[in-house]
Amino acid sequence: MEKLPSNIQLNILRMIGPRPSPNPNSNPSPADFAEKLADKDDQYSREIGLFQRFGFATIQQFLAPEAALTALHVFSSNHDALRPARIGTGVLKTFDPNVRNDRIRFIDIFPTVTASVNSEEQKTVAAVYHALNPVISAINAALNLDSNDCLVSNGIFQLGFYSNGARYQKHRDSSPFMPGRLVTLIIYLTQDWNMTKGGQLRLYRQTTHGHIDIAPLFNRLLIFKSHYDHEVLPAFCDRFALTMWLYSESLKAVEAVCAPTFSTIRSQIKTAQWSIFVSIASYRDPDAYSTVEHLIKTAKYPERLIIAVLHQDDPVEDAQLHAKKNDAILSIACIFINTIDRKDATGPYAARRKIAREMKNNSATHYFQIDSHMRFANNWDCILVELLDVAESVSKKSAISFYPPGFDDKNFTQLEIFQLPPPPFGPVLMKANPVLDVDGMVRVTGSLVFPPPNPETHLDGVVEPQSLIRQRFIAAGLLFSRPEIMNDLYNLADDDVESNLDGLFFGEECLCTAKLWTRGYEIWGPRDPNLGVAFHRWSRVGRSTFWENFDGESGNLLKNKRARSQACVKFVLGLQSFVPSTAEETVGLFQNWAAGKSNGVGVERIKNDSLVAFPVSSAFTQISTSSTTVATTKITSTATIGIATTVYVTATSSSIADTSSVASSDVWTPSSGSILMFLV
Ligand code: OGA
Ligand code: NI
Repeated sequence: MEKLPSNIQLNILRMIGPRPSPNPNSNPSPADFAEKLADKDDQYSREIGLFQRFGFATIQQFLAPEAALTALHVFSSNHDALRPARIGTGVLKTFDPNVRNDRIRFIDIFPTVTASVNSEEQKTVAAVYHALNPVISAINAALNLDSNDCLVSNGIFQLGFYSNGARYQKHRDSSPFMPGRLVTLIIYLTQDWNMTKGGQLRLYRQTTHGHIDIAPLFNRLLIFKSHYDHEVLPAFCDRFALTMWLYSESLKAVEAVCAPTFSTIRSQIKTAQWSIFVSIASYRDPDAYSTVEHLIKTAKYPERLIIAVLHQDDPVEDAQLHAKKNDAILSIACIFINTIDRKDATGPYAARRKIAREMKNNSATHYFQIDSHMRFANNWDCILVELLDVAESVSKKSAISFYPPGFDDKNFTQLEIFQLPPPPFGPVLMKANPVLDVDGMVRVTGSLVFPPPNPETHLDGVVEPQSLIRQRFIAAGLLFSRPEIMNDLYNLADDDVESNLDGLFFGEECLCTAKLWTRGYEIWGPRDPNLGVAFHRWSRVGRSTFWENFDGESGNLLKNKRARSQACVKFVLGLQSFVPSTAEETVGLFQNWAAGKSNGVGVERIKNDSLVAFPVSSAFTQISTSSTTVATTKITSTATIGIATTVYVTATSSSIADTSSVASSDVWTPSSGSILMFLV
């Protein structure tokens, strides 16, 4: 077959290949329509729609599970037949291991009688081809290509094998020598893929400057336009990929495939490029899938999202929890889902840290940390990117963070896209609750300030921009910044399991605020009362929380860890001086806290050994301190510090001016170098 002229090859393949679906635009009769509904080709219409809009699509669990395992077994057993791959075409074919050092072989889908037929392999190949037929038909139907123009396979699969860091540098599959090669279909057979194994396919779509990394997940089918630049990142695992190309030499087909996609048209509207890594920690949350789906549907550039979800589920009770999952929607974004046993869950801080550690090498330009029960306003992605742009013009290290307004099923189920509640709504000022909770922890609150206050100039010289209000605390469930913030919050380099702050729930936001503040961050919220970004399901009815893990015998262990974690946080916040219980603790973790090591605070705003700056919020107004420099002057009037967001004190010399109005639990003696939270 190789030797026939390509147009004749294609004609033959058209006869033996899958039939294109009926033309969808040719006014089907009711009978056609009924037939079409029953047609299996429709199975992939969503994914192919995405392929048309975005130039690529993925289908998860593509082959039947046993078929996929058989395919891996068959293809990996004939290792010796693989040859170093070459680059170029025809006589220009050369080896260049710097460009490409995978090993490949070509497999005839329709072997000739004389070919050495490995029957198991041929059966597998036939089964895979059979599974691909409806996909190929769906592509032809979507592109409106009839039997004269349709895309067909050339009857050959390429089996590719990457391991030991093998890669394939940026290239295109179509070339002047292969002009008719239009669509690439790849089935990945990498077992137990995770981020550390690498081997992602990095896709650079035309006219968009960004790229998308597609994980070679086991049994994932990837479809993309062959004229897009792409590369295979170094793979540190056994990565098998079965590739089929679709060809057509008709001009109509070339135009249909190479026409600008929806996303390239949209990206021409906004040329500045960015992408967002979204971190979602979920504890047995039946709303997690809806959250992800809504996140994707409402984003202006859903294809620029890299979303990681960490489910902490019960392997038995929660088996059906995310059953309504729709892969077609999920595949618009690049999505990673990991599940751990809910019994191993130790709180949101630990879960978000786990995600950050696993996904720290993602390629996104922005980081978005959210909860697993949220909904979003249209174009939330553009809004946040723009707000952060403004914030960064004031402070290079900035984050957007605030408690979002609530939603429940009543105000949401009927509405595909949520309408903002009528004003007055917002801005939300993040402050601390004036009263410590029963554990002696500071609780964070968000209060609506309406009408929005005018931008102010703070005592430390920070000038609020028109569109932003300066926050005193972060909201852990809505935090938008740059990827570097993952390290600032979660100390990714440190393997110390103790630094997970196991069991921590209340305290997470104070601790994270302290970490960010002392590392030089400014936290902001939108000032515009009409600017919605997200909505949060505040009610905990109908969902479990990791608090259930505090029950029973194993719960006691976690309770102890929580007490310890809370002690760490209180120490860092200056709410409690730390009394080490073991020698190990004395020299270890806790000593590092105030020194910017381990999970402790940073040093950027520490003016000298004992001088720290801190955000001011609404509690402890009774506790006096100086206003701008060293803590010698006591502040007696809250009005004086009402305008302040930052005060400096020496930790050793600060004192309580008027303890009579302070509840005894609020009285503390800060230890040297600790952060003091003063809250107006
Ligand atoms: C190729 C290629 C991609 C992959 O062989 O041309 O780009 O993911 N392969 O294996
Ligand atoms: Ni390629």
